Amino acid sequence: MVLLVGGGRVGVGDRLRGSAVAFARGVLGLVLFPYQAELLSCASKRIVACWARQTGKTTAIAVKVIHFAFTNADTTTLIVSRGLRQSMIMFGVIEHFVLGHPVLRKSVVRSTRTQILLRNGSQVSALPCGPDGAGLRGFTAHLVVMDEAAFMPEYVIASVVFPMLATTNGTAIMLSTPWGRDHVYYRSFKNPSYWSQHVKAEQCPRITNEFLEEQRRDIGELRYKMEYEAEFVEDENSFFKQDLIRECTEDYDLMMNRFLRQRRELVATVFWVLISENEWITVLLRCSGKKVMICSGLFFLSSFRLARRILMLLLTFSG
Ligand SMILES: Nc1ncnc2c1ncn2[C@@H]1O[C@H](COP(=O)(O)OP(=O)(O)O)[C@@H](O)[C@H]1O
Ligand SMILES: [Mg+2]
Repeated sequence: MVLLVGGGRVGVGDRLRGSAVAFARGVLGLVLFPYQAELLSCASKRIVACWARQTGKTTAIAVKVIHFAFTNADTTTLIVSRGLRQSMIMFGVIEHFVLGHPVLRKSVVRSTRTQILLRNGSQVSALPCGPDGAGLRGFTAHLVVMDEAAFMPEYVIASVVFPMLATTNGTAIMLSTPWGRDHVYYRSFKNPSYWSQHVKAEQCPRITNEFLEEQRRDIGELRYKMEYEAEFVEDENSFFKQDLIRECTEDYDLMMNRFLRQRRELVATVFWVLISENEWITVLLRCSGKKVMICSGLFFLSSFRLARRILMLLLTFSG
């Protein structure tokens, strides 16, 4: 028995067609971590993966997408995220595996920055959902992957993404590090009709205990629990609530201070100064009608120094 790949033939058998785990190892040369293998063996059509940072979410689901597209002709797989940049990260991993493989590459009939079309009629596309899902309307899909789903607007997931699967009996996969409980991602994670999986960073063989101990010390208990233990935590003391921060999560262009100063027509008003726990600060400006980010990062500042820094930024960019 041979597997038809995009209309061509490769010498792999039923086992590779039936198992994404075997496909990962046998075709892509990737040995999955045990929890990645567990996820890829799951046949549920509703999957929630709540994994810590850098534990291999994107890689695992990229393999699942490739296996699905190659073994299911005439299907559409969409990778959606809040911004195109995030969707493109997973698309880049898919592209790397497919275009870097001597046999799989031959089955690609068209490849653009955001889409791969296979000879078997299947396609994989990366799309941003944006604040209202406008760019996603009108699509029908057999598999939808929502990368960093906890940061996508709930309305878009419910009213734009799920309807795409209505006529195909398709599969929805939400993966994310956790962010806030008042969101469909959290409720789906808790919903017994979903297959959900929780993975902490300590389960990842690539992440050392030393690194985790350092992070626990440096970023504080709350952020550590969220980023590395994949716990849903809400910081009662944070300046802005997580839901508000999610609404502001988008791809922003980082603008150089030098460039901003040179622009005489610049009308820069501080749009948001987002401060979450541990003083993670993102300063956004509205610049010629467009939101741009001028800095984002961890600032270990006292409240006074923080206020002074924000004031300095305001003075620098306000005219
Ligand atoms: N099974 C694996 N074997 C070896 N390296 C892996 C494996 N899965 C993921 N990685 C690597 O681990 C890093 C983090 O993976 P990624 O999928 O980006 O994680 P996440 O999406 O959870 O942040 C990447 O460098 C990736 O290549
Ligand atoms: Mg990722």
